[in-house]
Amino acid sequence: MKDESRKKINLRRFIHQLWFLLKPSHRKIWWLIFWVILVEIFSLIGPYILKIIIDLIIDFKIENFQIILFWIISMFISNQITSLFTYIKDRKSLEIIADSDFYLANNAQSKMVNLSLAYHERENTGNKIIKIQRGINRIRELLLSLFWEIVPIFFQVIFTMMVLYWVSFWFGLTITFFVPIFIWITLKVNKKVHPDRVKIYKKGEEAYGLMTQSIININTIKSFVQEKTEVNKFKKVNKIVKKSALKVFGTTMKYNLLRTLIINLGRTTILFFGIYLIWQGAVTIGSLVFVVSISEKALISLFRISRLYDQIMESSEPLARLYELSLEESEIKNPKFGIKPKFLVGEIEFKKVSYAYSDNKKKALKEINLKIKSNQMTALVGPSGGGKTTLARMIFRHYDPQKGQVLLDGENLNKYDLYEFRKHISIVPQDVEVFSTTIKENIAYSRPKATFEEVKKVAKIANAEEFINDLDEGYETEVGERGIKLSGGQRQRIGIARAILANPKILIFDEATSNLDSYSEKLIQDAMQKIRKKRTIIVIAHRLSTIRKADQIFVLENGQVVEKGTHNQLTQERCGLYRKLIDLQKLNQVE
Ligand SMILES: Nc1ncnc2c1ncn2[C@@H]1O[C@H](COP(=O)(O)OP(=O)(O)OP(=O)(O)O)[C@@H](O)[C@H]1O
Ligand SMILES: [Mg+2]
Repeated sequence: MKDESRKKINLRRFIHQLWFLLKPSHRKIWWLIFWVILVEIFSLIGPYILKIIIDLIIDFKIENFQIILFWIISMFISNQITSLFTYIKDRKSLEIIADSDFYLANNAQSKMVNLSLAYHERENTGNKIIKIQRGINRIRELLLSLFWEIVPIFFQVIFTMMVLYWVSFWFGLTITFFVPIFIWITLKVNKKVHPDRVKIYKKGEEAYGLMTQSIININTIKSFVQEKTEVNKFKKVNKIVKKSALKVFGTTMKYNLLRTLIINLGRTTILFFGIYLIWQGAVTIGSLVFVVSISEKALISLFRISRLYDQIMESSEPLARLYELSLEESEIKNPKFGIKPKFLVGEIEFKKVSYAYSDNKKKALKEINLKIKSNQMTALVGPSGGGKTTLARMIFRHYDPQKGQVLLDGENLNKYDLYEFRKHISIVPQDVEVFSTTIKENIAYSRPKATFEEVKKVAKIANAEEFINDLDEGYETEVGERGIKLSGGQRQRIGIARAILANPKILIFDEATSNLDSYSEKLIQDAMQKIRKKRTIIVIAHRLSTIRKADQIFVLENGQVVEKGTHNQLTQERCGLYRKLIDLQKLNQVE
């Protein structure tokens, strides 16, 4: 959070953004305001009837008894109507809050899921999700105080003022004089304690972070005997929170004395004018009681909006974040009437494709030309950072080329319906992502309707069956958050089984065997042999044993194809990069 943006808020922008985000509730909000106005008008009627009754009693005549009785019943009815309207108003505002909670979270989540991978790599997603969730909570608090306090009090003060002017100019003037002073002090105290409130908020967040860190890294903490340091670190930050909180309370309480003084001065002035006006015969005793009771209520209500300024401050940043997120669009556009292929031939061609990551000046791919033939196994090899993963992801349209074209079966990839063509392609990534659920569901993620038999079959092909059966609960074993209960090699085999289950025409392995021991690797290679029939297979690999079986090999270096051919052709090249890589590997194996 930038400190600059925290110091100043742009109220107009804030309202604009809030109004924009609450779009689905606009109609309901107008209705709410209507009900608020009704409630505030009706709550003036009760005290007014009381005024009539008091005036009738002071001037008591026995024949007025029926009229008095009529007014008492009217007062009862009017109070009941007010409480009914209040009920409706509160229901409406709770509805709006529940609605907005629902759609703000939904919109944010669906935005997150639908935005392109490039976006997620650019933005730090992990943090962001927590911040969005916190933002939604902040907005809920803001709406609560808006609908329950600020809007009703606003109308209450306006109507009270109007009525006071109507009863007597002097009453009106008194309240017009004291209310602005009161509001001014309120804003002042809020501004004064604001830095400390920010401290509470920021340091609180930091303390929260430290707490999480110390739990996540507990292994390291214990191995290096750093328990005390961690405890002290946390305590230190937490202490600042406490200190700031005490300071905020202290200052607010001090200013409260001043605010109470203003209210008391207002009260006294009204009484003073009241008695004077009664003496002059300008108003009745009933009117004075009426004036005192409604102005009292208005002044006390004002006390309640004291945190308005801070609430706007606190929610302005997360609000802006949600607003920006809602305007964000995926860079990968799905064409309106995209091709929905029933089946693919499985031929891929790169034509002069260039790509640079947005935060990286160096191009990851430079004018790549290559053709991946259908029903063949193609290997991508080369030094780290050469662009292999980038190239593979382009086939899936995780990224679009900035220059050139990627063709699938002779058609530009961006002509296909995004979700339809992707059904025919599976990637086993370098780091397989595992959900916090059972092994079975993790494998079946690519095809949730798959039967248990099918899941077992692919697990067998991926050579995962053996270790799964060794687990206590077999396929029903929960793998824990991010799959921490699985070893790297086990996770990879889950990823492979998942990809095979999708039964894709094009299968991409991004170093899927890098975490395996030689024995498991061999089994997986056998699996690849089994499933390579009638499929286009792209393997990114460092190991010779995997590459050797490929029908064609592309060697990528610095985002360019520097060599291509079969294993035998490439090993003939005496000074070639491939030959060099292979020789190095052989050397390693000897050692
Ligand atoms: N998300 C990213 N943001 C910015 N730059 C990236 C990103 N991913 C990769 N790069 C850069 O793009 C270039 C190609 O990376 P890529 O991951 O395609 O290489 P690779 O050949 O798969 O390497 P390795 O064998 O280590 O997996 C590298 O210079 C890398 O620094
Ligand atoms: Mg890679």
